[in-house]
Amino acid sequence: MTKRNILVTSALPYANGSIHLGHLVEYIQTDIWTRFQKMCGNNVHYVCADDTHGTPIMLRAESEGITPEQLIERVWHEHFDDFSAFHVEFDHYGSTNSIETREYAEDIYRKLKSVGLIEVRSIEQYYDPVKSMFLPDRFIKGECPKCHAKDQYGDNCEVCGAAYAPTDLIAPYSAVSGAKPEMRNSDHYFFRLSDKRCQEFLQKWTKSGTLQSEAANKMQEWLGTEGENKLTDWDISRDAPYFGFGIPDAPGKYFYVWLDAPVGYMGSFMKLCNQRTEIPIDFDMFWDKEKAEQSGTELYHFIGKDILYFHALFWPAMLEHSGFRTPTKLFAHGFLTVNGEKMSKSRGTFITARSYIEHVKNTEYLRYYYAAKINGTMEDLDLNLDDFVAKVNSDLIGKYINIASRTAGFISKKFDNRLADQLLDPNAVALIAEFACKRSAIAQCYEERDYGRAIREIMRLADLANEYVNHKAPWVLAKQEGQETALHEACTASLNLFRILTLYLKPVLPMLAKEVETFLEIAPLAWHNADETLLGHRINEYKHLMTRLDPKHIEAMVAANRESLKPETHSPVRHAEAQQHAIAPIAETISIEDFAKIDLRIAKIVNAEHVEGAEKLLKLTLDIGEEKHRTVFAGIKSAYNPENLKGRMTAMVANLAPRKMKFGLSEGMVLAASGSETGLYILSPDEGAMPGMRIK
Ligand code: MSP
Ligand code: ZN
Repeated sequence: MTKRNILVTSALPYANGSIHLGHLVEYIQTDIWTRFQKMCGNNVHYVCADDTHGTPIMLRAESEGITPEQLIERVWHEHFDDFSAFHVEFDHYGSTNSIETREYAEDIYRKLKSVGLIEVRSIEQYYDPVKSMFLPDRFIKGECPKCHAKDQYGDNCEVCGAAYAPTDLIAPYSAVSGAKPEMRNSDHYFFRLSDKRCQEFLQKWTKSGTLQSEAANKMQEWLGTEGENKLTDWDISRDAPYFGFGIPDAPGKYFYVWLDAPVGYMGSFMKLCNQRTEIPIDFDMFWDKEKAEQSGTELYHFIGKDILYFHALFWPAMLEHSGFRTPTKLFAHGFLTVNGEKMSKSRGTFITARSYIEHVKNTEYLRYYYAAKINGTMEDLDLNLDDFVAKVNSDLIGKYINIASRTAGFISKKFDNRLADQLLDPNAVALIAEFACKRSAIAQCYEERDYGRAIREIMRLADLANEYVNHKAPWVLAKQEGQETALHEACTASLNLFRILTLYLKPVLPMLAKEVETFLEIAPLAWHNADETLLGHRINEYKHLMTRLDPKHIEAMVAANRESLKPETHSPVRHAEAQQHAIAPIAETISIEDFAKIDLRIAKIVNAEHVEGAEKLLKLTLDIGEEKHRTVFAGIKSAYNPENLKGRMTAMVANLAPRKMKFGLSEGMVLAASGSETGLYILSPDEGAMPGMRIK
């Protein structure tokens, strides 16, 4: 068999937030694949790094009173420790803030420039005169131009979902200082994606089998049909102050974080090459266009579906036009939900890796559960906490571990820790052969990242092994005279079945597999060991391998993550940007007559439900003392579970002109508070207020 040379990456986590269970869908998935490839004897290098640049990190460091370098140094250790605890084993874990990444970023930029793909243009942008900085879209807030919701971000409205430019916002203000931003001109550097060369290349690349079909479809949407040229140039520069790499020969200009982030894959790999001196790795064999083609090295990026655009458009276009190889394949996955909903701080389901480690401890439970659900598509994956406990206990303890725990004791007690020299029972021999011959089918599942199918097959085998044990009933044989050989054989066969199952589960459960290897006194299991049988072999005393998962630990973990008084408004991932508290400027003075025009009423929420297809809305049925109930669509889905709203009192604007929405007619508006910090809080009256009472 010829060994494949494979370079694997996971996306580089931002250095301004903690690793959470959502991230781990990706890192565990990649780690399983990498471990599997290593077990097959391939040369695999798995690299990753912290993504350290950009405005959020700069501001976060500032608010903590430390330098960005200090911040990213601290976070690097936190991330590294979290990954280690989940047995995510990188060959190198680096940082984008490295000399290597800087050099490749500059190199790629210079090459793109030399072929005429970089252009400088002056653009108008919002500038914060108090902080003396240009404001990224996410740091400008104001009133939505479409639905007039207040305090919306500069790129899209969380209430009505409209997308717009920051300049469309009404009464914009800086989320950093609260100041009114000014429009200023500045020169920006663009990567000319609209150039024919880029469009033509991407059309070809998208169709060359590098993408999953769902991803390829998305790409077609973005690219348009051939000749349509939908792509626009990409702004790759940011003005000082910015934490990042300066653009060569462009004082005061920095590479936008997404320019150097994927280059971090190369930088981290270069560091690995520099470290591995005994068995050298040739960097160019993996990255140089011609050398990679000649040597057939493979490059795979595991990514979340949210960053497909960057990896499927910008990144290959950058590489192609600067003489580097492009990825062999992109493996995009979906997002994690917990108990069927987006992770939420208020529900305690925004679970950090750290809190899992503290409360549940055994990280292989989660590896197993994720593996059982990962299928190689871009579908979202649900962590149902009850199902998690049930599945771990029934599959791992009840099926798999059970095979060894019911048979190993006899080998030590009765046979001096020695397995039988031969198996005379043809059924036992046949069963072991059946297990062994599943090795290519299971390997294929792993190769295709359909770990769920692999696990189902492995558990089916575990069921067969348990049937065998039940049928032989060693605990009965042990009590009968003259059944020594039968007992010895039954236990030897069972432990052989257990050994093969361990081999198949090893990419998912590496620590447990290691303990089994110690118990069985065998060398580290590799894929080709599947068809060996252990006979006449001395093993060690059986020690308990895994304990049941106690649901109490899960409850404690959720409680520890629950920020009970602080419902949260949106995706923890994208918006984890540390924001300083800023109060929106007070609006223009109005008269009491103006105010009296607004008819505010106490409303009872008689029903609240999800709206199919709406990302942010809940449908509320309100009783305001009228004969008929009112229907109101409110943009509060991210902060509230509809179940918890039913029966609650709140306040509404009762004389707002009804608005036709995609999902139906909205007959008013409920009142909620929000600020520049995340969080959305609907109002409640004091006890005693009745539906329909006027608020004045
Ligand atoms: N820094 C960028 C990636 C740069 S790669 C050159 C980034 N960082 S991230 O920390 O937000 O996310 C890192 C990876 O974790 C991404 O692939 C992202 O899709 C994945 N996930 C983050 N939250 C997730 C879930 N809730 N569920 C599944 N994967 C998620 O994006
Ligand atoms: Zn809006």
